[in-house]
Amino acid sequence: MIRNEVTDAIAERRSIRKYTDRPVTGEELKTVLECGTLAPSGMNTQQWFVSAVVDPALRKEISALQKEAVLAMPDLPPVMKERAKDPAFDATFGAPAVLIVAAPPQGVSDACLLTENMVLAAQSLGLGTCISGSIAMAFQGEKGKTLLKKLGVPEGCGAVCGVTLGEPAEAPEAKPREKKYTII
Ligand SMILES: Cc1cc2nc3c(=O)[nH]c(=O)nc-3n(C[C@H](O)[C@H](O)[C@H](O)COP(=O)(O)O)c2cc1C
Repeated sequence: MIRNEVTDAIAERRSIRKYTDRPVTGEELKTVLECGTLAPSGMNTQQWFVSAVVDPALRKEISALQKEAVLAMPDLPPVMKERAKDPAFDATFGAPAVLIVAAPPQGVSDACLLTENMVLAAQSLGLGTCISGSIAMAFQGEKGKTLLKKLGVPEGCGAVCGVTLGEPAEAPEAKPREKKYTII
């Protein structure tokens, strides 16, 4: 593989689930969000919205709703329910910022591209991230929909995923990848 700043960021990124208390600076946050919005989108329709949550009370509210959703949902792996029952459970892994990515149903692919741009931009700044499908579960019920509104998410957009963001407090090994491609 050819190595340069971009391929290094791609190769060195890991999902980070432990963070230091250092807040994400305004400049870092703006850079990550701007890089998100530089992602391509179908006919440049940019059908996405990101709410960057740095308010600790709101982060706690998201975590509490996610816990409620996990405990209420049937057919989830028992390990997820066990984790949610832990009094120390924090869906946001103690990250100082959580990005809530939202989109209308037809904008989900665009929102995924925006998400990956943000994650790689964060990596290039020395910040850690973890994309979380579970955080999106917090926004499924009525309380979650009300919270989405409070986060400034436009009508018609549902939560696609959460992205925890902050200074990493762990350095996990790379997870294995299969060579799922061909050159014909
Ligand atoms: C769509 C999506 C949803 C994910 N949801 C979660 C999640 O709910 N909780 C979690 O801890 N990690 C979540 N992850 C992170 C994956 O577990 C992680 O990307 C995968 O194990 C590979 O590890 P790596 O990111 O360190 O390469 C998610 C990743 C993606 C792309």
